Amino acid sequence: MKMFIFFSVLGFILISSLAVDSAMEHKQKEGQPMMHHKGADSKDTRVQLNVPDMMKEHQKTMMREHLKAVNEIVGALAANDFELVSQTAHKKLGLTDEMRNMCSMFGNQEFEKIGLEFHTKADELGDVAKTKDLNKTLLAMDAMLKRCNQCHSMFKQ
Ligand code: HEC
Repeated sequence: MKMFIFFSVLGFILISSLAVDSAMEHKQKEGQPMMHHKGADSKDTRVQLNVPDMMKEHQKTMMREHLKAVNEIVGALAANDFELVSQTAHKKLGLTDEMRNMCSMFGNQEFEKIGLEFHTKADELGDVAKTKDLNKTLLAMDAMLKRCNQCHSMFKQ
């Protein structure tokens, strides 16, 4: 009996959160004016990954964390704190099992390849930063950031 109540409550929570989600999506579509870009940008040619709804917010949250990490790295560089640059690159952007899983879960090999390359470049940045050579560190960061942009220009949720 207790189990039954537990699952009923769980089911109710799940269904209500889905309803709120779709209501919000609807509202956004109505409320936001279409953005008009000039020239080549007006056509969105990115490949859609078909990220499941329940993963969308998670993926975007991770992306915002990536940007925060890049911010932290630039701040640390400005403060000459190469140790922090290295740690942040390895810990927050480097290749972990979690990142590996995230990159492979959309069944798109090109996406996975760029994703893994990005995390590998982040680890290389972490290694290069240990030399405390500013120019080499910036070059490694450039190589990493190119992967962010490469993926963004090709894929959307
Ligand atoms: C392997 C692919 C890939 C890589 C690498 C990648 N991203 Fe993303 N990122 C995405 C996708 C897909 C989206 C969702 C875009 C969409 O649907 O419009 C996204 C969205 C974002 C967003 C928007 C989040 C929001 O709240 O809407 C930010 C910020 C972002 N990425 C930052 C970064 C940064 C910084 C890096 C590198 C340090 C990076 N990303 C690397 C695929 C990637």
